[in-house]
Amino acid sequence: MDGNGRWALGRGLPRVMGHRAGIKSVRATAELARELGIQILTLYAFSVENWKRNPREVATLMRLLDEYLRRELPTLMKNEIRLSVLGDITGLPQGVREHLTQVMETTKANGRMTLNLALNYSGRSDILQAAKRISAEVRAGKLKESELTETTFSRFLYTQDQPDPDLLIRTSGEQRISNFLLWQISYTELYLTPTLWPDFGKPDFLKALVDYQQRERRFGA
Ligand code: IPE
Ligand code: MG
Repeated sequence: MDGNGRWALGRGLPRVMGHRAGIKSVRATAELARELGIQILTLYAFSVENWKRNPREVATLMRLLDEYLRRELPTLMKNEIRLSVLGDITGLPQGVREHLTQVMETTKANGRMTLNLALNYSGRSDILQAAKRISAEVRAGKLKESELTETTFSRFLYTQDQPDPDLLIRTSGEQRISNFLLWQISYTELYLTPTLWPDFGKPDFLKALVDYQQRERRFGA
């Protein structure tokens, strides 16, 4: 979800107004994904590197997240959406963490769609925490090195038993991965659009999906 700051600055507004405006795109994409029967939607909301931003912007992002969770819980329940977090939530402010845990607990039996929020997430930190937990299991004799396959390794990632993403959409015209799901996107189709995140609505998402439908996926074969 990129381009919130530019969206706001282009209107002579403070950057944080762009983040606020981005929430309606979160709603629209989650709604369309669920309507179309997409089973997992992952939103990259806050990276490990985003802590380098101005503390006031970080504080606003955390507050918006908290607001979103509070306001969206009834919709998540109504639409049978399970909320899940990718990333180290122990690094988030206590209030946000408690709230996230509560929403994850309340929505855990919802089976229509999983909404992954990548928070305090980076692809490298994901791979590293997996490697650490795997080595602890090997040391404890719970896992044999010979049993360590790509499938086993994947289960230790924050995405656990979720399948790899089919499509990765990046808004705002940037052409980089920015430490997102590095392991999981080995054969993911990429869709880059100049549209800024707050302008990315259902028609844009549909366009990306139709584009994806024209792709021929060979997985190296
Ligand atoms: C992305 O928008 C939102 C988050 C990191 C939460 P940006 O804040 O990166 O917006 P630009 O890239 O400065 O326009
Ligand atoms: Mg950006």
